[in-house]
Amino acid sequence: MTVSKTEGYTGIAKWLHWGMALIWLGSWCVGILASHWREELNPHHELTFLHKAVASTLLFLIVLRVFWRLIKRPPALPASMSPLMQRGAVLGHVLLYAVALMALPVSGWYWSSVADKAILVAGVFVLPPLVAPNPDLYDLAKLIHTWTAWFCAALVVGHVLIALKHHFVDKDEILKGMLPTSKR
Ligand code: HEM
Ligand code: HEM
Repeated sequence: MTVSKTEGYTGIAKWLHWGMALIWLGSWCVGILASHWREELNPHHELTFLHKAVASTLLFLIVLRVFWRLIKRPPALPASMSPLMQRGAVLGHVLLYAVALMALPVSGWYWSSVADKAILVAGVFVLPPLVAPNPDLYDLAKLIHTWTAWFCAALVVGHVLIALKHHFVDKDEILKGMLPTSKR
């Protein structure tokens, strides 16, 4: 398979980035509302159902995203960034892929599996369980999902703030390169 270098992000890469960002941010907010406003907003687990139905689509979209990332490489970072900053940016993106977009949904899948609760992906089909039900692992699975979710929130806030710093302080092309209208 040939790997083509791109001048800017392809339209598909941008759709995947913004689509998954929207799903991710929405899932995070619904997850918080579902667990912290349970009696007021989630008495019959409607928000839990919504959270799982929407967030679980990330498990499929990430496969497409990684495939696309492998065949269409992203644009090079600007030369104005020091080698250290460039390495930091790569590390940040690797963490976003590995933890926010892969480990976090998998930890939710694991939690629902040990709890013997179904996940209806996009409200359409049931995801098979990742592991056998096991009430002894419930608290651990809950802890892993909750702490990973909060760690990822910090990661995403950092990601967004850095993107804004590139745009407003450094005035480089990084944020523009990911916007639907422009090309690097
Ligand atoms: C297959 C995917 C996922 C499943 C099955 C899942 C499952 C769950 C469940 C069952 C809860 C508890 C809700 C309640 O108490 O009613 C929860 C909470 C939560 N989830 Fe997920 N989740 C998934 C993916 C995600 C993703 C991708 C994110 C982040 C975007 C996320 C963020 C959260 C947050 C922030 C909470 C609340 C944590 C807290 O209690 O502070 N989840 N999740
Ligand atoms: C308003 C919210 C967001 C903004 C403004 C934003 C902005 C950006 C920008 C400008 C880039 C390009 C960086 C570059 O060219 O080096 C980027 C890449 C990336 N973003 Fe976001 N982002 C947002 C939300 C998210 C969310 C929620 C996630 C995942 C949880 C995410 C994951 C990624 C990843 C993995 C990349 C690397 C793409 C690659 O080069 O392979 N972003 N983002």
